[in-house]
Formats: sequence, C-alpha cells, structure tokens
Amino acid sequence: MSEPLILGIETSCDETGFAVVRGRELLADVTASSMEEHARYGGIVPEVASRAHLEAFVPTLDAALEAADVDLGQLDGIAVTAGPGLVGSLTVGVSGAKALALATGKPLYGVNHVIGHAAVDELVHGPFPDRFVALVVSGGHTSLLLVDDIATGVVELGQTLDDAAGEAFDKVGRLLGLPYPGGPHVDRLSREGDRDAIRFPRGLTSGKDKARHPYDFSFSGLKTAVARYVEACQDRGEEVPAADVAAGFSEAVADVLVTKSLAACERSGCDTLVIGGGFSANSRLRELAAERAAERGITVRIPPIRYCTDNGAMIAALGSALVRSGAAPSPLDLPTDSGMPL
Ligand code: KG4
Ligand code: ZN
Repeated sequence: MSEPLILGIETSCDETGFAVVRGRELLADVTASSMEEHARYGGIVPEVASRAHLEAFVPTLDAALEAADVDLGQLDGIAVTAGPGLVGSLTVGVSGAKALALATGKPLYGVNHVIGHAAVDELVHGPFPDRFVALVVSGGHTSLLLVDDIATGVVELGQTLDDAAGEAFDKVGRLLGLPYPGGPHVDRLSREGDRDAIRFPRGLTSGKDKARHPYDFSFSGLKTAVARYVEACQDRGEEVPAADVAAGFSEAVADVLVTKSLAACERSGCDTLVIGGGFSANSRLRELAAERAAERGITVRIPPIRYCTDNGAMIAALGSALVRSGAAPSPLDLPTDSGMPL
C-alpha cells in the first residue's frame, strides 16, 4: 500500500482534532478547542476537557470527513493518540477510535502524541531526511528526539526534568499579572524589553549537571529566579521592569532550547532540526534557532503554527507513516497511557 488513507484522532488535552491524510497529503484537518472554558479557571480542568471531547467527537469527525470528501469505508486505518496526556481526555479519543474500528473493520493504530508533533512536519515540508533531531516544546512537553525513522526509530535524547517550556512561560505570565495562558503575552511583552538587562540562570548547561544531563532541560530554577527577582522589586517598593524580566526570561529559555538542540544535531551528525509543539510559536526561539542553525549549516523546519498546537493532522501523519512502514495495528483493547514513554 503506497498512499494509505488515514483518519487521525487527537484528544490528549483540550483540543479535539480530526484529520484525514492520504500518504503525506493532508486532505482535511478540523479542531474544536475547549480552551475558552479553561481560561476562566487559569488552567486546564481535566473533567471539563473530557466532557468537551465527548460533545465535540461526532461533529468534528463529521466535519473532517466531509471536508476530505471521504467516508469511513474508504479508510485504510484509524490512528489515535494513546498517550501521553490527560487520562480522561485520552479515554474519550481511544474509546471513540475503537468504536469506529469495530464498526468499520478498519485497523486501529495507537500513537504517541509527542512523536506526532514531529511527524506532522512531513505534511508541510515533505519527506524527512534519513536522520534528524526533533525538539518538541509545548505546555505539556519539552523533549529532544533523535529520529532515524518517524514510524519505528525514535529515541528520546532528553526531556524536561520539571516544567515544560510553555508551562514555565505560563507561570511567569501569572507572576507578571498577565492573562492565562501567559506564554504568548510574555512573548509579546519581551519584544519591548532588553534581553541583556537581567541575566537569568540556564539550567543544566554547565559543570556536572551538563555532563549528567546533556540533553535534558530544567526550568523550575529559572522560574524561581524570576519569582525572587519580582519579589525583591516589590519588597523595595520599586516597579517591576516587566518587559525586561520577560525579555531576560525568554532569552534564557530560548538559549537553552537552541543550544541543546544544535548540540544534539552536531553530535549525531544531523543537518536538520524539526521543531514542533505549541511553544514553537515563541518568537525568540524562532529567531535564535534560525540564526545559530544558519551559522552551522543546519536546516530548521517548523510547521505553521496551526500544525504546532495540538491537532488531528499530527496523529494522521504518524498513523500514515506507521501504515507505510508495515507496522502491525494495535489490538482493540489498546490501553491509554497518560505517561506514555517513547
Ligand atoms: O501545544 P500547545 O498548544 O498545548 C499543549 O499541548 O500544551 O502549547 C501551548 C503552550 C502554552 O503553555 C502556551 O502558553 C505556550 O505553549 N505558548 C507560548 C507561545 N505561544 C504558545 N509560549 C511562549 N511564547 C509563545 N509565543
Ligand atoms: Zn501537544
């Protein structure tokens, strides 16, 4: 089978995503989000997310099939996020995918959400090189992957030991009194600040920590440093230089992400870095990655932002790669795995 027709289903967090791909061609991608409901609470409420997935499941599926002009009987496979993610959210997607697979007799493929964030880039920028490094950064994950084959050969080089990059931005957003999710607001504010005015720590980038964790990340110390800085200003009765704080903080996060990603490329002989996940919208990350990669002759591939946030296309893309590689389908008792390793 050369160009499989695959339905992708994503429900790991707050986005209900359905997409249809044929091979590496995206035919339809429809997403419903419950973010507005969570914004009121200042964070994702798992039960609200699960209920929203249940309500959006059938309408979003129908919209994707209609936009792709295909019916379920034509599919070659149904791919669904099996983990990592919120267990209630994952359960809605996996249960729905099983029901569809059972009703249609189509094979089911449970896939890893983090790998999906890298896989989607093939739909945009074409086939992957033989070997590349992928940085997946969002509110939930920060992982560095070495990819020999997106379907069968992905190794996790490192990941965050505490907060994800987006999560750290959201926490700093809260410290600076910005609305939730704070990431985009901190990013915008940072453009008005001086990124060299305040030097914040870069976790796991020197000495023994670096040697022990060359490709891991840690942002909790950085977040604490920002909190201390803000508190010290307040204790002195001074106005917090919010734009400089945002700029210095953004610089620290982008610096660490880019430094470690490019080191991974050089040490593994890769000339391509793929960046995915909702945090790849960050302007300083994009700038620094482009600048430093160009100096080293490394190509940076970042899909358009609508394919970086959670969506069905990433899951359909990975499902398609699995089918093309001849991988065995998942059993119909496929479990969800909220902490799914790679
Ligand atoms: O992938 P995504 O939409 O959802 C998760 O799976 O987490 O990523 C959203 C995360 C949030 O933490 C959000 O604040 C952050 O990415 N984010 C940003 C920017 N845009 C989104 N953080 C910094 N700068 C941005 N421009
Ligand atoms: Zn994600």
